[in-house]
Amino acid sequence: MTLAGRDFLKESDFTADELDHLLRLAAELKIAKRSGAEVQRLVGRQLALIFEKTSTRTKVSFEIAMRDQGGHVSVLDPSTSQIGHKESVADTARVLAELFDAIEYRGADHANLEELARASSVPVYNGLTDDWHPTQMLADFMTMRAHAPGPEISYAYVGDARYNMGNSLLVMGAIMGADVRIVAPRSLWPSEAVQSLARERAGSSGARITITDDAEAGVKGAQFVHTDIWVSMGEPAEVWAERVALLTPYRVDAALMARTERDDARFMHCLPAYHDQNTTVGRRVAEEFGLLDGVEVSGEVFESEASIVFEQAQNRMHTIKAVLVATLAGE
Ligand code: CP
Ligand code: NVA
Repeated sequence: MTLAGRDFLKESDFTADELDHLLRLAAELKIAKRSGAEVQRLVGRQLALIFEKTSTRTKVSFEIAMRDQGGHVSVLDPSTSQIGHKESVADTARVLAELFDAIEYRGADHANLEELARASSVPVYNGLTDDWHPTQMLADFMTMRAHAPGPEISYAYVGDARYNMGNSLLVMGAIMGADVRIVAPRSLWPSEAVQSLARERAGSSGARITITDDAEAGVKGAQFVHTDIWVSMGEPAEVWAERVALLTPYRVDAALMARTERDDARFMHCLPAYHDQNTTVGRRVAEEFGLLDGVEVSGEVFESEASIVFEQAQNRMHTIKAVLVATLAGE
């Protein structure tokens, strides 16, 4: 199998075998780095990183992955480049494709990313859009595989399920044949289009898809409980009140973790998380809505033995490296 020259825009562009290839490659790259045996396959290659939204993990993962492999990055953002205001996405793509071997893009509108990919003659990677977060999915599956007792992966995503993380966890699990539960109030379920895409892929993979507003039934038997922030990047602060009202029954706390009825249950979060009052937003939400021990997740669960969020964050780098090595060096 070769993924040389391919874009990485959304999970559904790939087969289960292709995604499995990337996950295996990431595991090999992680071991190679740890043992000091990493082979550089991207020496002298150039990657452009476009961030129209802020990032910590995704940005540094692309940077470290390229550096480890002998390549280089240039970071562009709207405030220090012409993107968006003076130059169209398509023209930007055509310019960057003349100078770089690949382009990463993080922005709101998935259509912009697709337009960029159409105009670019080099591979384009999705660093997150409002609709999909596919590099996060590779890290999440790599992490779950490392903790699952066997090949079966069962997880519940609990929270705002109509955005990038809910969509991606639903569709990735459907492709990979997992037992996936989307647990959210009905008004925050993934769109009909995303649900039918997931059901279609589940038909061929044998995945079990459950979409429910019953938090306790939804997590029962699931090994992994995922959540995400309740108000995503780019959403107005005014939606907090409505979101808190809708999602407080879906907050991940020790009682909800116990409802998995599994001793080996693990907590996962793409991060950043509001689990204490040590951020401006976490503090403001705590004061305004009385959520004194974390917002989407309790401090107790976030800091517990069951929480594997930092391993999950580290795996962002290994999996992003796999995407780079597979698409640029054909591994
Ligand atoms: N999980 C994730 O994408 O984190 P960043 O926003 O920090 O890149
Ligand atoms: N749903 C979150 C994910 C952050 C990685 C956001 O879009 O802000």
